[in-house]
Amino acid sequence: MVRGAWAIGETINLSDAWYGPKHWKEPDSFSSTPFPYYYFLAGLVRSQGCSRIFEIGTHYGGSARSMLHGATEPNVQLVTIDVTDLNPALHALPCVVKLTGDANGAEAIQEAMDKFGPEPIDLLYIDADHKFAPTITNLGLYSLLLKPRLVVIDDIVLNEGMRDFWNVVRAAYGSDAINCVDVVPEIRSEKCGFGLLRLRRHLPTMDQNRESKSEMRDIRKAIDVNLDSLKREHNNLDIAITELSSWSQLDDSHLQELKKRKLTIGEAIAKLEGIQLPD
Ligand SMILES: C[S@@+](CC[C@H](N)C(=O)[O-])C[C@H]1O[C@@H](n2cnc3c(N)ncnc32)[C@H](O)[C@@H]1O
Repeated sequence: MVRGAWAIGETINLSDAWYGPKHWKEPDSFSSTPFPYYYFLAGLVRSQGCSRIFEIGTHYGGSARSMLHGATEPNVQLVTIDVTDLNPALHALPCVVKLTGDANGAEAIQEAMDKFGPEPIDLLYIDADHKFAPTITNLGLYSLLLKPRLVVIDDIVLNEGMRDFWNVVRAAYGSDAINCVDVVPEIRSEKCGFGLLRLRRHLPTMDQNRESKSEMRDIRKAIDVNLDSLKREHNNLDIAITELSSWSQLDDSHLQELKKRKLTIGEAIAKLEGIQLPD
């Protein structure tokens, strides 16, 4: 999933997805290029068919724009919350709802629930207050309330609090919790880490059903073509063996070879005929 998302993300144009003010640097520093993890987020949204997305920690809107660029579903809905409101342009983006407030406060919780309703969401992206208590509260609250299929968490190894948080998550979810940097190091610095958590398996959508049906049809066709040619060869060998058996000057080893070949083909036919494909 991580490699696929990264490969797809690299093909998506994110030229307008900027980080904006770099709060950890001097006050005037501003980034106007997409960060590598933006490509991963866009690719994840695209490859996993995400259309209902909740982000905690909007900042300037770079990650929100990236996820939006990844979305292909017509009814995409991206809700993003931050205590600040740095970029008014976000309010004008179609399909985006920018909320302002503390993500762990009662008002924000109510607003998020109102926006999404009772249906589960696809992706929760947590990139806010990188400390143990607020981050584990973000995860607990919104996984319970919005039932996301996937959760991505930035900076999982940035400091002691975040490492403790990630250890709890790994203890709870085992191999469904991975640090994407271990799979594709280009996504994020190894000092920060980038967590991906799979909470639910993807239920097949109509399109995926259609796709897998046509894939099955192709496999069936290939099997049938193969079967036809094997059966023809089996028949020809049968005729040749009958003819040659009555021939007195025949080299017996040649006849044995043909019989062996006929047996192998017979077994291959039985195997192909035994393949049960789902409807
Ligand atoms: C690292 S920045 C987010 C960067 C953004 N996701 C991106 O990649 O472009 C973290 C943001 O989280 C916000 N934040 C911190 N605590 C928060 C809270 N309790 N609720 C909502 N937002 C919070 C900060 O104001 C800050 O803008």
